[in-house]
Amino acid sequence: MDVIILAAGKSTRMKTKKSKVLHKILGQPILSYVVELAQEVEAEKTIVVVAPGEKEIPEIYGDTLLYATQWNQLGTGDALRAAVDEIEADKTLVLYGDAPFLRKESLRGFIEFHHDKDLSILSVEMDDPTGYGRIIRDDKGVRAIVEEKDCSESERRIREINSGILLMDTALMKENLEKLTSDNAQGEYYLTDLVELFSAQGKRVDAYLIDDAKETAGINDRAQLAEGRQILQERIIEGHLKNGVSIIDPSRVYIEPGVKIGPDVEIWPDVYLRGNTVIEEDVYIGPGVDLENCYLESGVRIDYSKAIEARVGKNTVVGPYSYLRPGSKIGESCKVGDFVEIKNSTIGDETKISHLAYVGDADLGSNINVGCGTIFVNYDGKEKHRSIVGDGAFLGCNSNLIAPVEIGDNAFVAAGTTVDKDVPADALSIGRVRSQIKEDWNKSK
Ligand code: UD1
Ligand code: CA
Repeated sequence: MDVIILAAGKSTRMKTKKSKVLHKILGQPILSYVVELAQEVEAEKTIVVVAPGEKEIPEIYGDTLLYATQWNQLGTGDALRAAVDEIEADKTLVLYGDAPFLRKESLRGFIEFHHDKDLSILSVEMDDPTGYGRIIRDDKGVRAIVEEKDCSESERRIREINSGILLMDTALMKENLEKLTSDNAQGEYYLTDLVELFSAQGKRVDAYLIDDAKETAGINDRAQLAEGRQILQERIIEGHLKNGVSIIDPSRVYIEPGVKIGPDVEIWPDVYLRGNTVIEEDVYIGPGVDLENCYLESGVRIDYSKAIEARVGKNTVVGPYSYLRPGSKIGESCKVGDFVEIKNSTIGDETKISHLAYVGDADLGSNINVGCGTIFVNYDGKEKHRSIVGDGAFLGCNSNLIAPVEIGDNAFVAAGTTVDKDVPADALSIGRVRSQIKEDWNKSK
């Protein structure tokens, strides 16, 4: 089977500079969901029909797809013609690039349904079928698809509509594509006219009716884009709930499709889980957490925090108001508290960075206490440098560590020290101006 994805439309209703199929739903372009469907059926070739000058689509998908250009947008039948020379397999599946909601199970059912037919249509009944092509049935199967604008009064009342997904015999398709005319209300070459041509030739044409109209919705404008997010989000959340994840308010979380969540995880409102984030079991994600491509090991507790490409070890507590930037690797049973920023650093087990600190480009051992106000001075205005802190070290409040610098195991940095040379293991580093007392100073002014 070869798959053709139509994506050469003008995207007029989306009011956009780029192709509408590249607009994102839950972090992925609409087209990616359709490409996933094509992968599901193990297509020999997947050909996407694009508009002239389309650069972004090939940039994103590279050679996972083949590309055909439709030079003039003369309708869906014309779009199929643009790709027809590439098709070799004996069956052709047509998907629309703007319809990302079909479930894999439905597609599999549709393909099974097709096995003894020449052309099959995936259809659905809609309460309000306005705008869609209507399925005209007869006693042998389906006789035609009539577009809304070409419908008679009685045809307009038909609620079974064409989803746009067709599967057909390639040889018959090629033969009949030649015969399409643009003799209709829109002056376009309709792909859907193939149905009438096949049927008139006595071929086996039928429609596979699925239950859920949400699966076949197309995205033509921004309102449908927003509704689309909701459709996919509800599905994703449903999956996590079934797998034993507690979500306090499912309408107030944002979870992208690539996210994995273990059982007994609890998720509070206003949480964003993006990219390939993985959350192991028994993690508590309190309110206001935004994680992108992160890995949280079991038992982590985090709230009101943002993290990007960070890994957090077992039972570590993060937040409120922590910011973990790319390359942060936090050990087990650590504490990363309020207003702590960590970047490109490793933190050993049981180390505590409880409040108001910046740790950048550093490797910290285990059991370290990083005092309030500690700054890793990693940037000299030109380059970044790394620092190392050994196990059991104590960094007093408001100390500055001027990188590159190494602090040995169990060393002690006194509060207020600016560390500008290495500190050996077990040593004290102290460097601060001693305070002076001037008795009765205020009285003598
Ligand atoms: C189409 C179907 C209609 C069906 C509906 C389902 C036809 C004639 N009508 O109508 O029966 O109920 O989808 O959503 O097929 N495209 C091209 N080149 C073109 C025109 C369109 O590549 O010249 C692509 C678009 O990018 C889009 C898809 O084909 O991905 C569908 O086109 P669209 O104009 O949205 O068709 P509808 O009017 O929605
Ligand atoms: Ca459409």
